Amino acid sequence: MAGTITSLLPGVLTLFLLLTATLARAKLDFKLFQDGFIITVDGTEILHQTAEEPVVWMGYGHTNFTETQGNFKVEDEVLVKVEVTTFIEATISDFVYIILRSYEDTDLRIGLYVTEDLGDDGCSTVNVLVNVTHTINTYNRMWVRFYADEEERVWGGGEQYTYFNLRGHDFPIWTSEQGVGRDNGTIASLANLDGGAGGDYYTTYWPQASFLSSRRYSLLIPDRKYLVLNFTEATRHEVYVHDHKFSASMVWCPSLLKTVQTVTTRLGAQPQLPDWIMTGAALGVQRGTEEMLFYYDLAVAAGANVSALWIQDWSGTTETLFGHRVFWDWRWNQTYYPDLDVAIQNLMEEGVRVMAYINPHLVEEGDMFREAAASGYLMTDAEGEVYKQDFGGFLAGTVDLFNPEANNWYRDEIIKNMVELGLGGWMADFGEYTALDMYSATGELYDPETRHNLLPEEWARCTREVLESSGQLGEVVPFMRSGGLGSSGYQVLAWAGDQNVDWSLSDGLATTIVAALSLAVSGMGVTHFDIGGYTTLPPLLTRSKELFLRSCEYAAFTPVMRTHEGNIPEANHQFYSDEDTLTLFARLSQIHATLLPYTRYLLQELSTTGTPVQRPLFLDFEEDIGSWDIEYQYLYGPDLLVAPVIHKGQETQTVYLPGGESGWVYLWEEEEEVLLGPANITVPVSLGYPAVYYREDSLWRPLFQEIVQEFGLAKKARWVSS
Ligand SMILES: *[C@@H]1O[C@H](CO)[C@@H](O)[C@H](O)[C@H]1NC(C)=O
Ligand SMILES: *[C@@H]1O[C@H](CO)[C@@H](O)[C@H](O)[C@H]1NC(C)=O
Ligand SMILES: *[C@@H]1O[C@H](CO)[C@@H](O)[C@H](O)[C@H]1NC(C)=O
Ligand SMILES: *[C@@H]1O[C@H](CO)[C@@H](O)[C@H](O)[C@H]1NC(C)=O
Ligand SMILES: *[C@@H]1O[C@H](CO)[C@@H](O)[C@H](O)[C@H]1NC(C)=O
Ligand SMILES: *[C@@H]1O[C@H](CO)[C@@H](O)[C@H](O)[C@H]1NC(C)=O
Ligand SMILES: *[C@@H]1O[C@H](CO)[C@@H](O)[C@H](O)[C@H]1NC(C)=O
Repeated sequence: MAGTITSLLPGVLTLFLLLTATLARAKLDFKLFQDGFIITVDGTEILHQTAEEPVVWMGYGHTNFTETQGNFKVEDEVLVKVEVTTFIEATISDFVYIILRSYEDTDLRIGLYVTEDLGDDGCSTVNVLVNVTHTINTYNRMWVRFYADEEERVWGGGEQYTYFNLRGHDFPIWTSEQGVGRDNGTIASLANLDGGAGGDYYTTYWPQASFLSSRRYSLLIPDRKYLVLNFTEATRHEVYVHDHKFSASMVWCPSLLKTVQTVTTRLGAQPQLPDWIMTGAALGVQRGTEEMLFYYDLAVAAGANVSALWIQDWSGTTETLFGHRVFWDWRWNQTYYPDLDVAIQNLMEEGVRVMAYINPHLVEEGDMFREAAASGYLMTDAEGEVYKQDFGGFLAGTVDLFNPEANNWYRDEIIKNMVELGLGGWMADFGEYTALDMYSATGELYDPETRHNLLPEEWARCTREVLESSGQLGEVVPFMRSGGLGSSGYQVLAWAGDQNVDWSLSDGLATTIVAALSLAVSGMGVTHFDIGGYTTLPPLLTRSKELFLRSCEYAAFTPVMRTHEGNIPEANHQFYSDEDTLTLFARLSQIHATLLPYTRYLLQELSTTGTPVQRPLFLDFEEDIGSWDIEYQYLYGPDLLVAPVIHKGQETQTVYLPGGESGWVYLWEEEEEVLLGPANITVPVSLGYPAVYYREDSLWRPLFQEIVQEFGLAKKARWVSS
């Protein structure tokens, strides 16, 4: 049916009048009731307006953002908020167009426009657009409510660390430092004394205004302004945005897996990673060429499979009040790393790459800062002076990545200084610090809030162009922490940022699982983490041997296994701290290397079908509702189920085996008992033997059997150090 429905008396419909219009479309449907309307997709409600519960609210407000070293204090004040409750008319064709008004501001007219594209892949896209068609007032705030039911789960929001299921909480979409502690405990309280560095459950480098719903759709909001995904209420998902217009697209597919694959592919699935990075451990080492090679030899002598040597201080270091810091001038420091070029070539012959470090900032004492400042390539203040920020003991500027000329200059510098040196990749750090009073040569192209949230994406784009221009895509591997909706189409590998070197559920090892899973359903299918965490605050917060080894055993079942010494190496347990650690570390790196054919296959699946490498159980076992709430386990590809140890002193692990056709086999024992899910089972977890199960009917069974034979419990005696 197509046509126009107009209520005779706007907003004053009589009780017995019940207008119902039904669309002829297969999926999109519209029903009008006396005091509201319902829009459904394939019978599932998406928007539901009643007199008490409008879909749209408009408002006016003011916000102060205060930046301190990447931490933002957001003081948001709403001065006006009006509800848009009154239905005026609807046009229905192959779309739904509704005009609404507010009794609180009778001049205000809102258009709600819902369209649908039926894809030929079984998925359809529903676009929801809300705009102001008439007003005499100024609005800069909006609330849009989507229908939700009580049982519904939602996941995603970019990279979240504390909650995998987002229901019950609200999540500001504002890139920032992730925070130290991220709760109200001792560590966070101490960090808060330092410019509010403690963080909170929602603070993240990679927030993203998108989510996956258990009602089998994914919703994506392209607006990059400050926005809050509000899941605190049982009957709605509310989006609050600093804007006067709103749009979202909803991807509807027959299954959750298909929905995630479709979203990942549309945003731009990550390309295949090279084999070299999947063959053992990347060692986080530093302090010059000699020391780098010393630790490499040590690891190799212990039998480790080494994929890379990652040297964050390749450009030299600088002394600050806070200790040793990397010198942010992104060129090889030949005094600190003599003959690095020769070492790189020699290592490459052994299949080992050297990785380095960079970020979008330049230290004011560096040559690159001077060159960039002279060319107008750095972001400025309102007066046009270079904007310098304090990064903890030194000042640095930010490359104006919005300016194509500056972006190209930086790309070419990276190619010249890093790719041509023979580096195999680098940590492409930061991206979250853009303050609202920082300006770009592109002027008004973006408003300050958008500029803030968009910088990580421009940084990812610049990094991707380095790979493409130099022909190194699929060979050189940069990894990033900051992100936004567009990042997954540029990034080749994410990493979870700076965890505390502890077991806390708010900022410790466990958060990296939630981070991987929430990114997986947000379009970024490959990530990894700093083994044993990063942030160290002695004597309160130092890395134990147990945490280091538990992190290693979990990292062995991820595509990229990389260590980090942490910000205070001497306070942390390291792979080289003792003989025993070295032996156990070597074994886990061998397991990682043995899995190479499987890992390669998982990356292939990601790049061709958009299937995330590490994923929540429910993507493969959607019918098993019990799997929907599993937060600290993951599927590593279709055939391995991993339940990492995340608590100190843990001797057993309870694992949820999802229910399906195939049974599960415990990885570390030769007699192959087949267990059927759904079931919770408890297994012992001695160090080096995390709870891992493989699918009985897996095509990779011979590879898993090889692991049992080489590294299983029966061979335990081999790995006990002297
Ligand atoms: C923002 O800062 C201004 C100036 O300090 C102050 O007057 C105003 O109340 C602040 N607004 C909020 C929402 O905190
Ligand atoms: C509102 O959106 C509709 C549908 O896209 C468009 O036709 C109309 O021009 C928009 N109105 C305004 C004022 O932006
Ligand atoms: C810490 O306390 C503040 C203030 O009560 C609250 O807003 C915040 O959500 C709490 N954070 C966590 C992680 O509990
Ligand atoms: C989220 O919604 C709840 C319930 O309506 C409200 O109390 C809260 O202030 C909202 N959060 C934000 C950030 O708007
Ligand atoms: C190289 O690094 C060393 C050690 O950190 C430092 O003293 C020196 O100033 C650096 N040289 C250059 C040219 O940056
Ligand atoms: C791991 O190291 C061993 C011993 O050096 C080597 O034989 C094997 O090929 C390596 N594995 C991979 C996947 O590189
Ligand atoms: C597994 O344990 C959880 C938590 O105790 C429980 O809710 C669930 O019903 C159990 N599932 C099965 C299949 O036993």
